[in-house]
Amino acid sequence: MDFGMIARVMNHWLGGTYRSTKADLDFAQQVELVAPHIPYLVRAQRAMLGRMVRYLVSQGIRQFLDLGSGVPTRGNVHEVARGAAPDSRVVYVDREPEIAADGRDLVAGDDQVAYLCVDFRCPADVLDAPETRRLIDFGRPVALLFIESLTLLPDTDDPYGLVAAYSDALTSGSYVGVSQANSTRALESALALSQRMFNLAPPSVFLRDRERQAEFFTGLELVEPGITPVQLWKPEPGTKIDHNAELGGMFVGLGRKP
Ligand SMILES: C[S@@+](CC[C@H](N)C(=O)[O-])C[C@H]1O[C@@H](n2cnc3c(N)ncnc32)[C@H](O)[C@@H]1O
Repeated sequence: MDFGMIARVMNHWLGGTYRSTKADLDFAQQVELVAPHIPYLVRAQRAMLGRMVRYLVSQGIRQFLDLGSGVPTRGNVHEVARGAAPDSRVVYVDREPEIAADGRDLVAGDDQVAYLCVDFRCPADVLDAPETRRLIDFGRPVALLFIESLTLLPDTDDPYGLVAAYSDALTSGSYVGVSQANSTRALESALALSQRMFNLAPPSVFLRDRERQAEFFTGLELVEPGITPVQLWKPEPGTKIDHNAELGGMFVGLGRKP
């Protein structure tokens, strides 16, 4: 299974407009059979992203670097940020050519947004890209977002060193958001079940517990409420709360560079 399929299936669950292939929809159906809670988690994560972007705007952030952006779908960073602050600028990054091509279509004609087709494991390719330099002023605070993209990166790719390398390029008052799938009984049994039922090779996801996720924020100040299930990250007042949100295993944190 390729990264593009993961992103397209997420888009399907989010009700996005991207064209899903039959293979994508078959895969989505298989996941729904073995792990019916996953579409709920994907939607909860997208809702959290909206809240996080609005929070960042409220803290004065107007520049966003979204690493591993996925398929352009509903509630994109630029839509939320610009809804809150029209002068916001966003650079999206994904290494999948098809995803990036659709992303470019989505933002075509918008000179405050760019979609790069780049592998974010090489920070210089992202940070020194002409589009990045045009849109992002690194002398001012930036929000760096890794939303469920480091879950696809093995430790051998040194995701911790990577986050640190990006953080080093940012000025004081910048933020780094990282969401990460943790190992849960539900997820482990879903992976085992999908192998038994569909003979599927296990997807290349790299689950990390909360302690390991905390290492991404080394040298940063964790914003309240710390690393929490995505459903519980600054929920809107009056939202119906998921009382066992940690069982879903999708956690997020936001760090501020002092
Ligand atoms: C699970 S999707 C998440 C998409 C989006 N952030 C969201 O929250 O809906 C992860 C995305 O990260 C991209 N990705 C993974 N590794 C990458 C890398 N090394 N460089 C650029 N993109 C990468 C994949 O292609 C995929 O589209």
